[in-house]
Amino acid sequence: MKKLMAANWKMYKTWGEAEATAGELVGLVADALPADREVLVFPPFTALKAVGDVFGPAAGFSVGGQDFYTEEEGAFTGEISPNMLKDAGASFGLTGHSERRHVLGEDDALVGRKTAYGLSQGLKVVLCIGELIEERRAGRVQEVLERQLRAGLADVPADMDPERLSVAYEPVWAIGTGEVAGPAEIVEAHAFTRKILVSIFGEKANEMRILYGGSVKPGNCAEIIALDNVDGVLVGGASLQGESFSRIVLA
Ligand code: G3H
Repeated sequence: MKKLMAANWKMYKTWGEAEATAGELVGLVADALPADREVLVFPPFTALKAVGDVFGPAAGFSVGGQDFYTEEEGAFTGEISPNMLKDAGASFGLTGHSERRHVLGEDDALVGRKTAYGLSQGLKVVLCIGELIEERRAGRVQEVLERQLRAGLADVPADMDPERLSVAYEPVWAIGTGEVAGPAEIVEAHAFTRKILVSIFGEKANEMRILYGGSVKPGNCAEIIALDNVDGVLVGGASLQGESFSRIVLA
């Protein structure tokens, strides 16, 4: 299973800035990318095509949409469909990111509909899960992760190609705070996630990738990526500079 080294650029970068960062990244990484690693960037929608065009000829580089809606087209102002993402060059889509859940108000049911719909439309999907700090302090980590996984995957067909679905464990308290989860916390959450995935999909869930996200930096990535059941990373702040993200990708 290839490690998925993913960048989430959130609401940062104009078209030109995204194109420049993507070019810098390809220049720093393309010739050195190990065969067992894949690079994925989630730019803002407006820069998808620019980044996809830069990545085009480089093997092992993909782009994805940070969000999408559950219809092919229609009167849904401000929304975007999986087909539109694919048309712009995306092969991946993100669902359930904590900022969509906790800032934009998405609930488990909507995250589940998006995840199933994106997969049905041919996207590879990265479903994000993760607990708030108060949930961790209350000893509710496993309860929250299981609820988010079961609701997020409720309508995903059991015979789905496991390589098309990844889960990103992102403890909300570690996102953008500089406070990375400790190795034991990551290993425990990922093992639990794997257990739930196996209970839903059977043994083939061992082929699904589980990424860690939350204050991943060039200096801590090598340690995190070597942990059990860590099949990649999802990086926010430290992915915005090509040089910094290149060191994470190659860590
Ligand atoms: O999607 C990425 C996560 O929100 C992590 O963000 O690396 O800035 O903590 P961060």
